[in-house]
Amino acid sequence: MQIKVDLFSDTGTRPSQEMREFMARAEVGDEQLMEDPTVNRLNEMVADLLGKEEAIYLPSGLMANQISFAVHCRPGDEIIMDKTAHPIHYEGGAAAVISGTSIRPLNGKRGIFTAEQVAAAIRSKDYHDPQSRVVSIEQTSNLGGGTIWPLERIREVCQVAREHGLKTHMDGARLLNAVAATGISAREYAATFDSVWIDLSKGLGAPVGSVLAGSKEFIHQARYWKQRLGGAMRQAGIIAAGGIYALEHNVERLKEDNENARYFAEGITGLPGIEIDAESVETNIVLFRVKGMTAEEFSDRLLRKGVRVSIMGKDLLRAVTHLDVDREDIEYAIKAVSEIIDHDLEF
Ligand SMILES: Cc1ncc(COP(=O)(O)O)c(C=O)c1O
Repeated sequence: MQIKVDLFSDTGTRPSQEMREFMARAEVGDEQLMEDPTVNRLNEMVADLLGKEEAIYLPSGLMANQISFAVHCRPGDEIIMDKTAHPIHYEGGAAAVISGTSIRPLNGKRGIFTAEQVAAAIRSKDYHDPQSRVVSIEQTSNLGGGTIWPLERIREVCQVAREHGLKTHMDGARLLNAVAATGISAREYAATFDSVWIDLSKGLGAPVGSVLAGSKEFIHQARYWKQRLGGAMRQAGIIAAGGIYALEHNVERLKEDNENARYFAEGITGLPGIEIDAESVETNIVLFRVKGMTAEEFSDRLLRKGVRVSIMGKDLLRAVTHLDVDREDIEYAIKAVSEIIDHDLEF
C-alpha cells in the first residue's frame, strides 16, 4: 500500500525543490579545516539564534547530545535527565561508550521534571557515589508527547543545577516547535544552558544535520570530539545549505504543524475506542491510545488506508505532523481513523 499521509515522524521530511536548488548553488570548502563558508555561515546563524558565542555543525542530533556529554563529563560521572529522554532509549547506549557516563532517570510528568526532583537526585560528594555532572532536558519532550518545558520551570531546574556546580544541556531537537507555539524566543529558552542544539532534519525539512551551540571554549572542546568521532566533514556546505534554507523559510510555518496536530487530535476525540486528550497537544506530536485492538493492529489497518503512524506501546500510537503533510492530509487521516472505528471495531 502506498503511503498517502506519513505521520510516522517529522524526521521523514524531504528537501523541497527550492531547497535542493539552493543547496546545489552552495559555496563549499573544507569543513574539517573550518574553510567551508556555508557551514561557517550556518554556525553563525544558529549561534545568533540561540544567543551563544559559537556553534558547530554536526551530522546528527545524537552526536550533538553525545559530544555535549563528553565535553561536560569525565568517565564515571552521572547525567540527570527524564526517564523518557532520547539518550536513554534511542542512542544505542552511546553515553556509556563515548563519555563513559551513566544516566540518572527522573520520573517526570510527560517528560518534564521539577527542580525538587533534580535537587533530590544530585549525588553527595562521597567517593562511593558517581558524581552528578549534567542536567539535561528535552525541548520539546518527544516521548512526553511534544510537551513544552515552561520557561519558569527551565529557570528553576537550571538554577538548582548551577547551585550544585552541574552543567546544563538542552536537547532542542524540536525547540523551534516550542518557539512557534509560545512565541518565547529560542534565545530565551536557551539562555540558562551551557549547551543547546537544534535539529535541521526534522520539522525544518533539511536533509542532514544539527547545530550545537555554547561558549567559545565549549565549542572548541566539542570540535575535538567531532573529529574523534569522525563527524568532521569536507565539502559539507552542500548539506549545510539545506539548514540555512530551512532557517530562512521553514521556521514560521512550524505553527502550521502544531495547529495540524491539534486539529488531528480534535478530529479523533470522542471516537469510540480512542483515548486522547486534545487539550494536551502542545506542538506537533499527538499520542493516543486505542481500545479493542492492539496498537500494532490499529497501525496496520491505518497503513492499509495509506496512513502511517508509529507504535509507542501496546495500545499507544503516535502521530507527528510536519511540512510534508497539510490540512487536507490530516482530514484524510481523521477519516481513516473513523472508518476503522466504524467498520472494524465493535463496541
Ligand atoms: C528529542 C530527540 N533528541 C535527539 C534526536 C536525535 O536526532 P537525530 O535523528 O538528528 O540524530 C531525536 C530524533 O528523533 C529526538 O527526537
